Amino acid sequence: MSPKRERLAVVTGGIGGLGTEICRYLARSGRTVVAADLDARPERLEAFRSEVAEFNGHIRFEALNVADFEHCEAFAERVREHHGEVDILVNAAGITRDTTLRKMDAKQWSDVIRVNLDGVFNLSRQFIDGMCERGFGRIVNISSVNGQTGQFGQTNYSAAKAGLHGFTMALAREVARKGVTVNSVSPGYCKTQMVMQIPEPIRAEIVSKIPVGRLGEPCEIARVVDFLSADESGFITGANVPVNGGYFMD
Ligand code: CAA
Repeated sequence: MSPKRERLAVVTGGIGGLGTEICRYLARSGRTVVAADLDARPERLEAFRSEVAEFNGHIRFEALNVADFEHCEAFAERVREHHGEVDILVNAAGITRDTTLRKMDAKQWSDVIRVNLDGVFNLSRQFIDGMCERGFGRIVNISSVNGQTGQFGQTNYSAAKAGLHGFTMALAREVARKGVTVNSVSPGYCKTQMVMQIPEPIRAEIVSKIPVGRLGEPCEIARVVDFLSADESGFITGANVPVNGGYFMD
């Protein structure tokens, strides 16, 4: 057995389209995982519990609203008390409120910024000191190809996701000497509820522009997150890894 303490990971949006698969991947690599998500949907939570039952308690659920700083503080306290110190933080919580800017109201703008961008500050802020003090940490931010290209109907989402790139690079510089890496993964269009909600003709048009000719699988994103979270990935920091089937190449 490895002499190292088992790594503890927190995955926000842990019962979301990509989040659950990320939890499963990290657990398979021997991490204990806290899946953090809104507890507003009891039936979804029930489904999640059976999806991760095979991991024998190595994936646990904790309620969290990433948009609320004080809620994040209380969550971090609870995690420390019940599960231990956090080594890996995957910021995967994200929402869309797609519409053109001309129709967008202030709430559609701020809801997306508060969850997708403020949420990453709110939670990273809770765990960064501990990671630096212990000399090890992995932060992986789930951005999006639409933060790289901009997408019609997504000024709010594209702004938040582009913001994550700046956040990732700046924080990576601040903590690089402390054994903490900060990277982002930019998924393209994958088989998640978020993407399946796009009206079919628009989605078909998008898929026709993906060079590999299909939507991505959540496990294809999770694999990269797992790689960046590994102890052995300490020389990769401030990087963005696109996983988009060739939809955007820069
Ligand atoms: N490019 C250019 N023009 C377009 C267009 C496009 N892609 N789509 C629509 N238009 C035109 C319309 O024809 C219309 O023209 P007129 O005013 O001349 O009639 C005008 O733009 C406004 O269109 P709508 O009234 O339909 O706009 P809307 O405010 O209702 O918004 C939309 C439409 C909801 C944004 C819809 O286009 C849509 O769902 N697009 C897909 C958005 C998308 O890709 N979201 C990604 C979600 S998944 C995700 O985000 C995960 C990830 O990270 C990849």
